Amino acid sequence: MESLRYKHLYRIFQAQGRVPKRETAGAAKKSSQEGDPKAMPTAVSGKGLEGIVAANSGICWIDGEAGVLSYRGIDIHELAEHSTFEETTYLLWNGILPNHLALREFQSQLSLARSLDRRLIDMLRNVPKTAVPMEVLRTAVSALSFYDVDEKDNSHDANVRKSYNLTAQIAMIVAVYDRLRKGREIVPPDRSLNHAANFLWMLNGVKPSETAVKTLDMALVLHAEHELNASTFAARVIAATLSDIHSAITGAIGALKGPLHGGANEGVMRLLYAIDKAGADPVEYVKGMLAAKQKISGFGHRVYKTEDPRATHLRKMSEQLGKDAGQTKWFEMSRAIELYINADKKLNANVDFYSASTYATLGIDIDLYTPIFAISRIAGWTAHVIEQLDDNRLIRPRAEYLGPAYPAPYIPMDKRG
Ligand SMILES: CC(C)(COP(=O)(O)OP(=O)(O)OC[C@H]1O[C@@H](n2cnc3c(N)ncnc32)[C@H](O)[C@@H]1OP(=O)(O)O)[C@@H](O)C(=O)NCCC(=O)NCCS
Repeated sequence: MESLRYKHLYRIFQAQGRVPKRETAGAAKKSSQEGDPKAMPTAVSGKGLEGIVAANSGICWIDGEAGVLSYRGIDIHELAEHSTFEETTYLLWNGILPNHLALREFQSQLSLARSLDRRLIDMLRNVPKTAVPMEVLRTAVSALSFYDVDEKDNSHDANVRKSYNLTAQIAMIVAVYDRLRKGREIVPPDRSLNHAANFLWMLNGVKPSETAVKTLDMALVLHAEHELNASTFAARVIAATLSDIHSAITGAIGALKGPLHGGANEGVMRLLYAIDKAGADPVEYVKGMLAAKQKISGFGHRVYKTEDPRATHLRKMSEQLGKDAGQTKWFEMSRAIELYINADKKLNANVDFYSASTYATLGIDIDLYTPIFAISRIAGWTAHVIEQLDDNRLIRPRAEYLGPAYPAPYIPMDKRG
């Protein structure tokens, strides 16, 4: 028998008069104040926890109306222009910017953590060749705990040590798996290179250009943290059960993979390729998609009601890189789509829209775009896990019950229709 979708089931129960009338948040609050023990005191009226404040945090501040994003109070525009991934990660983990010495130590610790257990590499060799990098990353990060000496230690200090390892290792896993699936030799890490440069080196086996390193480094800064986005929230929920940091990050990677979250950057590039392959006009193509009620990857945001400040930098990067490479096609198509959707739907490009054409111009394969998001967001995920555990309480919300009214009868088998 085909299983019924939730909405369908709800409509059946409603038609049978078995579902109590849905209470609004205001009414539920009022009846709870009047002492009705069955009332849910904080019933949600919107879906998807929109607008709900679910944690205290000192890591990231966003003003969605004004398009402001800041890490530890520092504006993202300043960080994009002046910082590096290493310095930004230090800031996220420690709350302050490092001085010269602290940054040097941080860089050296991160590069020393560039090591993968041989058994993990064997695992990567043996995954089916059809496995996409995001699935492989999710599974490999879970397995990293087997080989971490701090595996059983959930203390603050051990989690900081594990954060260095995870940050270094996630980038390595993505590069190593990509080489293995293409039948290429693994490139050993180069500890003299920064995080972005080492990733490109291990991925391509050639020393990356200064432009490529600078571009990727800035993209990593822009993606490093974003308050309680879906993957970070998932990580905090898992950490709050006092499970381990590898479990929290594995869960976060699972959430990031979805096309409504980090997976959107791959969706953008697939769209650009599809338009290109069809030789279609980009605007006419997306008009058709919108008419068919399809969503366009890379547009819209739950929090920003104006331009996503990260998109401002990625747009510039995509344009400049395209010009430098003599390949402006992806930027021009993207810009035409953006102008149309902005005017017609009042939707703004988000972080994923121009990261797609940026990575394409860097010659990176489509299915590595979301893993690259993870290579950066690990900085924010780990900062949040550590913050959660520093002042932990189990995260366990309630659901507004919309099912058959209680008490529903238990109908004996021979009386069921
Ligand atoms: C990011 C996103 C999930 C936010 O979702 P949300 O806050 O739940 O907003 P909704 O999906 O409810 O969208 C609100 C309205 O805008 C429309 N909309 C939002 N994003 C859209 C998009 N990318 N393309 C077309 N329409 C879109 C919805 O269809 C909906 O219209 P309706 O009210 O007429 O039904 C959503 O904008 C989206 O799916 N974007 C595409 C995926 C993406 O780029 N994700 C990365 C986010 S950084």
